[in-house]
Amino acid sequence: MIEIKDVKKGFDDKQILKGVSAVFETGKTNLIIGTSGSGKTVLQKCLVGLFEVDSGEIIYDGKSFTHMVEDERKHLRQQIGMLFQGSALFDSMTVQRNVKFPLDMFTDWSHDKKMKQVNETLERVNLKDAHNKFPAEISGGMKKRVGIARAIVLNPKYLFCDEPNSGLDPQTSMVIDLLIREITKEYNMTTIINTHDMNSVMEIGENILYMYQGEREWVGNNKEIIFSKSAKLNEFIFASEFLRDAKDMRMLEEKGIIDNDRNMEDVMRDPESHLLMGENDKRDKSE
Ligand SMILES: Nc1ncnc2c1ncn2[C@@H]1O[C@H](COP(=O)(O)OP(=O)(O)OP(=O)(O)O)[C@@H](O)[C@H]1O
Ligand SMILES: [Mg+2]
Repeated sequence: MIEIKDVKKGFDDKQILKGVSAVFETGKTNLIIGTSGSGKTVLQKCLVGLFEVDSGEIIYDGKSFTHMVEDERKHLRQQIGMLFQGSALFDSMTVQRNVKFPLDMFTDWSHDKKMKQVNETLERVNLKDAHNKFPAEISGGMKKRVGIARAIVLNPKYLFCDEPNSGLDPQTSMVIDLLIREITKEYNMTTIINTHDMNSVMEIGENILYMYQGEREWVGNNKEIIFSKSAKLNEFIFASEFLRDAKDMRMLEEKGIIDNDRNMEDVMRDPESHLLMGENDKRDKSE
């Protein structure tokens, strides 16, 4: 679990994070969402120590990251995996060498042991027949898998992903999202994902922090988001009329007013009989 308390961060005289508090839970895909410029990346960089906070505290499983000495931080960083926006692979290295890189940096394992770990990790992210290819020779979705493999090759306790779906089609995005969630459960990691992909919010939003202009505007999960009364959040999430309609339908389903498994052809034929209202309600309506 990672906890942040009243975190503030600014650059020059511009305040970016204006006192954000939140809890990111272990074994869950924790999402940070918000419009471009709301401070998601700055917050993630503060969390991993790429930026120092101006005030407030970041706590990893009860230990204050903010007050750690450099040696302790170094140790903690080895338990952190990062998937950067755009994957940030080394173009001059093969897939296998990209994934092996953290092992070369942080372990004194034998070559054989490293290769075993690399191959097992590549298998875990379902990457086959790409070991000896260069990043330029593989698709965007495959690059993300390599990025994920590199992020988890040291079996981290904490996984940070900044926009893991950027540049991917909706179907490939979903596959990558589900892979991240599966791995999170399997290794019981605390995973934090920056995203503005609404499919991700609905599919893997187990704990969502919505940021608005550097402040925490809303916290909840993908079920609760349907019922949120925050106007700012609703404007952001349900930006199109289509999505607003979809939200209304999901609310009716959740409240048991319409059948989750309805067949739309049947509904069109006889709309009345598909409303799951009580008999009295139906009678009231017909009178
Ligand atoms: N190193 C920096 N120096 C000065 N300002 C910065 C720096 N990094 C970020 N900012 C500013 O902080 C604000 C928030 O940026 P941030 O990258 O966190 O947004 P974001 O929510 O991640 O947006 P996006 O969805 O586009 O990735 C922006 O106004 C940005 O210009
Ligand atoms: Mg960003």
